[in-house]
Amino acid sequence: MVSSGLIDHPDVSHYRLALHLTTAFITFSFALWIALDIKYPSIKEVDNKLRNIIRFTYLILLVQIIWGAVVAGLDAGFIHNFWPMMSDGKLIHETVYIEQNPLWRNFVEGKSGVQFIHRYLAYVVVALIIYIWYKAKKSSTTLLQNKSIKVLLLLVLLQFTLGVFTLLYQVPVALGVIHQVVAFFLLAAMTFTLHRFSR
Ligand code: HEM
Repeated sequence: MVSSGLIDHPDVSHYRLALHLTTAFITFSFALWIALDIKYPSIKEVDNKLRNIIRFTYLILLVQIIWGAVVAGLDAGFIHNFWPMMSDGKLIHETVYIEQNPLWRNFVEGKSGVQFIHRYLAYVVVALIIYIWYKAKKSSTTLLQNKSIKVLLLLVLLQFTLGVFTLLYQVPVALGVIHQVVAFFLLAAMTFTLHRFSR
């Protein structure tokens, strides 16, 4: 602890924190994939279009997780504690794009900018998963495919709600932890679903 220098500056770069969390999540997802390869037989008939949407959603979910870690790393959950507006009837607070220079830096180093990405990308993740659920309902799926998509949908709705409350209550430790744990299970469900749609 002493030689780490964490005594005087008990803060770690948000880039390193995000990298650490993301590496852990990807490693877990990869290990789960290998285990699923062993446990379940390969699928013969796959709906390619649906599989591609699931692949894309997996990637967007990873991006959402990375920005979640950046929000946590910058303590950006302690500002704009409103939902669905960012503040005073505004969907986008002006500090989102004026805090840092040049503009792009706001979205990786500005508290408002990173929170903006995380809160709005969440809608995209939810919409994509609802779309997957809707498409799967209309195509012929196996029991496991069907179940995994239902679990995925339930988890993403839970995760979204937890995120909103984490923000509204200014990140109580318990909610912050539960929000992180559910992100882990959400990635597990996403991995399982993608595996069930891959040959
Ligand atoms: C698909 C939806 C979502 C996913 C997968 C997700 C994932 C994550 C992850 C992985 C973290 C980092 C946790 C940590 O390292 O401690 C995080 C943090 C956070 N998220 Fe989300 N999130 C989602 C939706 C939301 C929504 C809708 C909001 C609010 C509108 C939100 C607000 C927050 C806040 C405030 C933090 C910081 C918590 C802290 O400081 O410990 N999230 N999120």
